[in-house]
Amino acid sequence: MRRSIVAGNWKMHGSRSMIEDLVKSLATSVNTDTCDVIVSPPFPYLSLVQQLTAGTGIGLAGQNCSEHAQGAHTGEVAADMLVDLGCEWVILGHSERRQAGETDAQVAAKAATARSAGLKPILCVGESLAQRQSGDAVAVVTAQLAALVEDLSAGDVIAYEPVWAIGTGETATPEQAQEMHSEIRAFLVEQQPTLAQQTRILYGGSVKADNAAELFAAADIDGGLVGGASLKADGFSAIVGAAQ
Ligand code: PGA
Repeated sequence: MRRSIVAGNWKMHGSRSMIEDLVKSLATSVNTDTCDVIVSPPFPYLSLVQQLTAGTGIGLAGQNCSEHAQGAHTGEVAADMLVDLGCEWVILGHSERRQAGETDAQVAAKAATARSAGLKPILCVGESLAQRQSGDAVAVVTAQLAALVEDLSAGDVIAYEPVWAIGTGETATPEQAQEMHSEIRAFLVEQQPTLAQQTRILYGGSVKADNAAELFAAADIDGGLVGGASLKADGFSAIVGAAQ
């Protein structure tokens, strides 16, 4: 039985006061008993969120990390700094970063650095609308995974996020999502048989309170990576409720 995960990716949103309000509400409304609940604030707010989530059971994720160890890399954030600020997780290879030029090889290098710092990577994969329309969705996702699974470790999480569903309000149907999740699971069975059944695969792309239960009911969907709907405590708590 894989424990569900609901992770809130706040992207580049928030302010001190907005985040204080959000985390205080989450602390009283989310149930972390049977589900890993994770929030991923922008870097400058990690320390604040670490303090506010202490003792709540809510986990912390960075939104990215450098592939390098600490050193002369202006503007970058080292994986061990995230650990120092209480992160247990890091989101890597999000499509918004891939669109800005991040390559499969870089995502793999970041994942290796993250693992050696003790972080569990949440590895994002997903096809564009054009790739889906041309029938290449599975090939694209499999190629992204191929770069990542060689060093897959226990605790790593995969997030399938079709690019056409991110922030668009257009969600993959539970059937479309399950179809890809089952392809991903089958690929893991081939490549990493001992980890295939325990690796959690999250769906991301316009997950909301009113579609979460249907998505999470699918056999190979182990929870969600939630963007927009993670910025409001009531909506996010309802999504966590759907994963219980
Ligand atoms: P969304 O974002 O829920 O706003 O579509 C998901 C994500 O990018 O992780």
